Amino acid sequence: MRNFRIAPSILSANFAKLGEEVRAVIDAGADIIHFDVMDNHYVPNLTIGPMVCEAIRPITQAPIDVHLMVKPVDTLAAMFAKAGADIITFHPEASEHIDRTLGVIKEAGCKAGLVFNPATPLHYMDYVMDKLDMVLLMSVNPGFGGQKFIPGTLDKLREARRRIDEYTARTGREIWLEIDGGVKIDNIAEIAAAGADTFVAGSAIYNTPDYKATIDAMRAELAK
Ligand code: DX5
Ligand code: ZN
Repeated sequence: MRNFRIAPSILSANFAKLGEEVRAVIDAGADIIHFDVMDNHYVPNLTIGPMVCEAIRPITQAPIDVHLMVKPVDTLAAMFAKAGADIITFHPEASEHIDRTLGVIKEAGCKAGLVFNPATPLHYMDYVMDKLDMVLLMSVNPGFGGQKFIPGTLDKLREARRRIDEYTARTGREIWLEIDGGVKIDNIAEIAAAGADTFVAGSAIYNTPDYKATIDAMRAELAK
């Protein structure tokens, strides 16, 4: 069985007590902190920057997974690496030079990944597999938490899983396959069966009163 990782998105956390909210999901059994960066240019919303990443860095040993929904990418990617990010992903449409941006992230010592919107073709990964540590499929259009999972993403996940497995069999290098948007207790098993190993969940965790109960329920679904 694959290793499954749960990555709560702090987009749905209570920002008035962000540090406590980060600690709470990790204490509740989460593996990764998903950090959504929006710029009101690439996506129609505005969130948090490197200063906030730096502020939460000392709170947990867990990897901070920075999802950049920004254009341009390179300057902010380097700033997030400095601010303590472990993984940095970006949307290929937002970078003029995808290979170069991946290089900027890797040279800064972080894991790098590409994010695919629902209608973005997977071929963007074709010539850069050796630089990818993560592939992130969006199962909603980026910009907001609390949207509904787009069912067509399941076929795309199966295709991404096939490409990654073929690559790993050939090279021995692992690439994580993350899913982001509308992940809930009642669809996580189906999403895992389609190939995801890393699950972002914002509203499904932070909008519930008992984070541990929710994360436990997700893990129980994954163990089925
Ligand atoms: C959306 C963000 C997601 C968002 C997911 O653009 O990338 O990470 O927080 O939220 P939920 O889990 O509520 O769909
Ligand atoms: Zn995200």
